[in-house]
Amino acid sequence: MGAAGVVHDDSRAAHGRASLEGQGRMAGLLQRAIDRSAPAVVLTIDGEPVQARAGDLLITAVLLHRTALRSFEFGPGARAGFCWMGACQDCWVRLADGRRVRACSTTVEPGMAVLIEGEPAG
Ligand code: FES
Repeated sequence: MGAAGVVHDDSRAAHGRASLEGQGRMAGLLQRAIDRSAPAVVLTIDGEPVQARAGDLLITAVLLHRTALRSFEFGPGARAGFCWMGACQDCWVRLADGRRVRACSTTVEPGMAVLIEGEPAG
């Protein structure tokens, strides 16, 4: 079991690697194992509204809905974090407000707009 009560499905990614190609928008790399009672938080991923729970890490929120955080800059494939504890720098994501944050050490905020594949509108 991974952090924040989620289960990492190794059949869909190995050691943080996953493919951005062909992924279903609603099928994520993780599945929530514990439905803890925390207020819902709505954020967007590439403009698509998704729901998380208050206190979720951003990496959890994204990977519940996507199979990767970003494309791999040195070759084909994609990344879904590696250490999950703020040490490896593998989970940087862009936000529409211009910030770049480590998804494994950033908690979700209402209205947060994460850019995985898309560019900010306008
Ligand atoms: S996954 Fe290693 S710093 Fe976030």
